[in-house]
Amino acid sequence: MVELPARSGPDVRRWLVTGASRGIGRAVAALAASRGDRVCIVGRDPGITGIAAAMGPDVFGIPADVTKPEDVARIAAEIEVRWGGLDVLVNNAGLHRGGGLEKIADEDWEATLATNLTGPMRMVRALARLMPAGSAVVNVGAVVGFRGFPGDSCYGASKAGLTGLTHVLAVELARRQIRVNMVVPGFVDTEMTATISDRARQAIIDRIPLKRMGTAEEMADVCWSVAGSTYMTGSVIFTDGGLMCNL
Ligand SMILES: NC(=O)c1ccc[n+]([C@@H]2O[C@H](COP(=O)([O-])OP(=O)(O)OC[C@H]3O[C@@H](n4cnc5c(N)ncnc54)[C@H](OP(=O)(O)O)[C@@H]3O)[C@@H](O)[C@H]2O)c1
Repeated sequence: MVELPARSGPDVRRWLVTGASRGIGRAVAALAASRGDRVCIVGRDPGITGIAAAMGPDVFGIPADVTKPEDVARIAAEIEVRWGGLDVLVNNAGLHRGGGLEKIADEDWEATLATNLTGPMRMVRALARLMPAGSAVVNVGAVVGFRGFPGDSCYGASKAGLTGLTHVLAVELARRQIRVNMVVPGFVDTEMTATISDRARQAIIDRIPLKRMGTAEEMADVCWSVAGSTYMTGSVIFTDGGLMCNL
């Protein structure tokens, strides 16, 4: 991680990171907080407020479920009251449910779409009015949204949809100078990938030119750069050790 001086005064940005109770979201929030920005973290885990407190005095947590419209409205209301605006929205909360076509349960399909696609749309819809010119949305996609991985219909469809949403919103929100981009992690060592068998894990690593999994901190570094990149919008930034080039 590159060491940067902490921000202060008017340079301090206000971040909202969904799915920050662990994994990539938590690393994004911790990085922004460590660099002096103010951060709100969201997750269903009621312990989210304690996780926020441990990150520092300028971090607070909202226990909320991005699939519930009333929770999204509550998040927006709290941001408005606390900060009066938002500079960076990271739509990171994600759910993976696998299974081949015949085994897809309607509940799995609906839960995955609700978390990975409808949730981000509702978050942007609720929060964009609080985002000034120069602010940024960072959506977290997946390689599975770009390539056909058998058994990943729910997840692949949800993340492909998120790519489309990113492109449309980049154009719509450009009028207000709000940038919308997508960071695409490859294969990252988090709870989401923890239950993959050793054999399957090795098979994926064998396809990664850099021959290893990524870390949540490496993804956070890229989210930080994308959030601050003033002339990038509608872009898809693969952060995958070269995996996409080798599929
Ligand atoms: N790990 C990888 O290899 C990989 C690869 C490509 C893309 N990604 C994407 O990266 C993002 C983060 O994944 P991760 O690997 O860090 O996964 P993770 O460790 O399973 O973390 C997922 C986070 O999302 C939160 N979350 C899930 N459903 C939610 C909901 N309905 N409302 C609010 N928060 C919710 C979880 O918190 P609670 O349980 O407390 O709600 C948790 O903080 C996801 O979008 C994932 O699809 C990951």
